[in-house]
Amino acid sequence: MTKRPIITLPDPLLRKPSAPVERVDDELRTLIGDMFDTMYDAPGIGLAGVQIAVPRRVIVMDASYRSADEEEGEAPKEPIAMINPQIVAHSDEMRAHEEGCLSIPEFFAEVERPARITVRYLDTEGQEQERVCEDILATVVQHEVDHLDGKLFIDYISRLKRDRVIKKFIKAAKGEVVA
Ligand code: NI
Repeated sequence: MTKRPIITLPDPLLRKPSAPVERVDDELRTLIGDMFDTMYDAPGIGLAGVQIAVPRRVIVMDASYRSADEEEGEAPKEPIAMINPQIVAHSDEMRAHEEGCLSIPEFFAEVERPARITVRYLDTEGQEQERVCEDILATVVQHEVDHLDGKLFIDYISRLKRDRVIKKFIKAAKGEVVA
């Protein structure tokens, strides 16, 4: 398994919708393994294929994950991979969470999303699964599914703040000094 480079703003691929996975095979399982390695190494709690420049509808998550240097030590890993995920139901109740994204490093903002969702997906054996997610996992699944539609968490913040962060990343990409 291999760690792969993560693309960041303003890479236009981040805005491109990802294609459905047509076959769950060893090649896809290798990709998923690489995605977990990349996510844990970053470290992050979720990663979509498009973030390693593979625009296919696959996401990996581990909402239990904490980096080893945090006081409580490393929590047991709870890796979850979802292929062709679809959110089929969501609560009216919302929860707010300070979100970040491996493709928008060092920027965080509070986003409100439904507190509970039902997601339907294929597992790594190609079996259809349905899972009710709540708390932080509900937030992470929604954030990652958004990636598959070319959507980013900064789309939920004010236009002023969003333009500011995008401008900062465009400047950084050009090698200009960021004010
Ligand atoms: Ni993200």
